[in-house]
Amino acid sequence: MRLLWQRAGMLQKLLPQTKHYRRWLATTTASARGNGQEEKDNARYKWSTPESKAEMLLYGVCWTGGLGLAYFLLTQRGEPEAKLDDETLARLWHITARKDLPTYKAEQVEQHNAPDKRIWVTYGLGVYDVTEFAENHPGGDKIMMAAGSAIDPFWAIYQQHNTLEVLELLESFRIGNLEGVTVASTDEELGSPWAQEPKRHALLKPASKRPFNAEPPIGMLAEKFYTPNELFYVRNHLPVPVLAPEEYELEIDASGGEQKEPLTLTLAQIKALPKHTVTAAIMCGGNRRSEMTSIKAVKGLSWGAGAVGNAKWSGARLCDLLREQGVQPNESMHVIFEGADLDPTSHPYGASIPLSKALDPRGDVILAYEMNDNPLTRDHGYPIRVIVPGTVGARNVKWLTRIVVADHESDSHWQQNDYKGFSPSTDWDTVDFGKAEAIQAMPVTSAICTPLPGERVKVNPEDGYITVRGYAWSGGGRKILRVDLTGDAGKTWHVAELEQEDAPDGRHYGWSLWTARLPITKDQQEQQQVEIWAKAVDSAYNVQPEKFEHIWNLRGVLANAYHKVKVKLA
Ligand code: MTE
Repeated sequence: MRLLWQRAGMLQKLLPQTKHYRRWLATTTASARGNGQEEKDNARYKWSTPESKAEMLLYGVCWTGGLGLAYFLLTQRGEPEAKLDDETLARLWHITARKDLPTYKAEQVEQHNAPDKRIWVTYGLGVYDVTEFAENHPGGDKIMMAAGSAIDPFWAIYQQHNTLEVLELLESFRIGNLEGVTVASTDEELGSPWAQEPKRHALLKPASKRPFNAEPPIGMLAEKFYTPNELFYVRNHLPVPVLAPEEYELEIDASGGEQKEPLTLTLAQIKALPKHTVTAAIMCGGNRRSEMTSIKAVKGLSWGAGAVGNAKWSGARLCDLLREQGVQPNESMHVIFEGADLDPTSHPYGASIPLSKALDPRGDVILAYEMNDNPLTRDHGYPIRVIVPGTVGARNVKWLTRIVVADHESDSHWQQNDYKGFSPSTDWDTVDFGKAEAIQAMPVTSAICTPLPGERVKVNPEDGYITVRGYAWSGGGRKILRVDLTGDAGKTWHVAELEQEDAPDGRHYGWSLWTARLPITKDQQEQQQVEIWAKAVDSAYNVQPEKFEHIWNLRGVLANAYHKVKVKLA
């Protein structure tokens, strides 16, 4: 069985992976747990184009030989895709502990996360050694994202292998059972502020565990226009507060210093207000900091390019509430937000934005209770957070408890002594946070999501191109006009195709995903490597700077230089 799998993997490697192929794979994966709409969409697609049928045939035959052929014959008869019934489900090995095999703890699995340490993954209760599988399989790079952790969430997205046949093959790699019981909190833990942290998705790779800060694997980021909630990066400065929805209250003090009673709203009252929906990317001010660090050390969490996500947010418009409270436009006023998360001196997380942004209906600032049509999760601010589209993540205060209209900015540490930019020559001896502006709108940026650095990429033998995918975004509602790519250090540039929302410029708060085809020269083929550069241009014709050297700053924020990724060519 293992031999068959390896052979199939090798065969598959010889073939280009096109869009049709990926969609076809998706159709073969009626997940045991089901994935409603997407499955239906894929099934519709499966029959929609002659190319997809042809590719189904080609890959089906190559992939699992007899199994693939049988599948092909079945589908050619027009019969519906075989669904796993309850009886079959019960036979799925990964939901059963195998008595003949040892039991491993998640921490033991975690250590096996590279080929030299062996690559282990878990699926349900099963622990699998997939070292050879990862090396021989065309999606090996994707499997590496799950190395040392659970493959379940990974397969929920890349579902191509979730068939009975493949599960059987996976079972042949089984080496043990995962200690299934969630470790109960110790007494000490129960007394600690971290005792009630939410459960997180296994694919979120922590930059720090307490407070929890984590980003999804960059390779997945450009797969979906709306980042799945559970894969959206998390940036917490403090423990996650526990807020009971029925006890939740938001205080709005719009008195501007006059002795007027503040307005207090319950969750039900906020939800009863007209619902406004906005697509907005949220990006941490430190996104891509790790690239800046490689020039010279900076202080801050070492984020990759995944401290960003794009979502559809719904809630009540702040401008309506403020106007109802009689707040008038004033260029020098600010709106301060406070969260329910408290620092050890009992000060809440806080930040502020200019009143002009909060009062502008085109600013789309909302008190959000939904993210991608679902209630906010605890990590993302349940039950209410403010969404300030186009503005650095730090101002999008979660677990919102208080809003104050004031003649000064928030005096919180995060507004005054953090999230500010400086000259590359400013160091910790010369820095004066009091003299620098707090970051609000973010600069234009982009990142290459696939291929990953160091990945072996197959050049399309028919046209000599490779495919590159990524995201681009600019703050202040500026639309992305173009993403340019080069494989020869800027001698020639290739314009990517954009996938973006149809929102007006100035109010274009969502990110743009892009796909580019990059020609590979004979020289690059011979050297078997290429360095890909990407840069985005926004609607003000702002463009990313080429080098990190020129924008380096001691906090490692605003890291938006060209994204450069070196890959190997197969
Ligand atoms: N709000 C509160 N109350 N506490 C926080 O730690 N972090 C901020 C912002 N809002 C933070 C907060 C920062 S720095 C960022 S980048 C975003 O939340 C991250 O939002 P997310 O965790 O939902 O992705």
